[in-house]
Amino acid sequence: MIYSVSINGVLTDPKQASVSIFDHGFLFGDSVYEVVRTIHGRIFAFEPHIDRLFSSAQQIGLEIPWSREDLRKDVVALLKHSQLEEEAYVRLILTRGVGELNIDPSSCRAPQIILIAKALPRLPASAYTDGIVLSLVNTKRNSKHATNPGIKSGNYLNNVLALMEARKNKALEAVMLNENGFITECTTSNVFLVKDSKILTPSLECGLLAGVTRKLVLSRARAEGLTVEEGFFKPEDLVAVDEAFITSTTRDVVPVSRIDDRSLGVVPGPVTKRVAALYQDEVKKHLDKDCPLPHLAEKTQ
Ligand SMILES: Cc1ncc(COP(=O)(O)O)c(C=O)c1O
Repeated sequence: MIYSVSINGVLTDPKQASVSIFDHGFLFGDSVYEVVRTIHGRIFAFEPHIDRLFSSAQQIGLEIPWSREDLRKDVVALLKHSQLEEEAYVRLILTRGVGELNIDPSSCRAPQIILIAKALPRLPASAYTDGIVLSLVNTKRNSKHATNPGIKSGNYLNNVLALMEARKNKALEAVMLNENGFITECTTSNVFLVKDSKILTPSLECGLLAGVTRKLVLSRARAEGLTVEEGFFKPEDLVAVDEAFITSTTRDVVPVSRIDDRSLGVVPGPVTKRVAALYQDEVKKHLDKDCPLPHLAEKTQ
């Protein structure tokens, strides 16, 4: 994999790129991050992702010493430098910075912003035609009263453990419950269920990341008159569903063919198909409003 990196706005050779072992992001997972992607030479939905980065930082009491515009400029410069022809994945990592070897963040004077770009990793095309497998795992999603899952923090160990469980169960993604037994989300995606043509997804109250894709899917589905419910769902509800799908920035809308031992009917089901098409239309509308990256502008005309 070829990576391009910038650290605090300075383009850096990925082989030389490093952060201090005294950065609290490294020591304690004291960091927040975002992932944005390009589509047809444009950065897709940059604003909501940057808003979420600022919100995550604010929730951990970390002041970002860069403006939204600084960050956009840095991402654009990184993408130009990367010379990626295909769609790009960009991770923005904001760490607490270097401090003393204890958890107290007060010794950390300067947050670091690290940007890493690479070609967008893609699921095989069969995932979209045949669906993916989910597994309901034992590892619980963090309580929203602990490291709130609404914060996109650099502390993903819980999700790493859940994913390991899912992989053991031969599933691509893990469905996690909260401590009260309600379905929350997957390790790096939001989950949706369909029952009697009604679209169901866990409420943000359950403790989960407010996905940018989730929000776009919900608002567009509502605008089209589809029935949508953000609610509280239990594992028993999985048994009764007609369809299921997951959403994320890097994977869009992906149909689910099986949840553990339970195969779902037609994949993708009619509602999933409709939602996926509506989402693509929504993406197109967003892209029409956004400027192409300057270095790709000629190629995308
Ligand atoms: C825990 C979690 N939930 C949901 C998502 C999907 O969010 P988005 O649609 O903003 O990519 C992600 C994305 O990485 C995630 O890490």
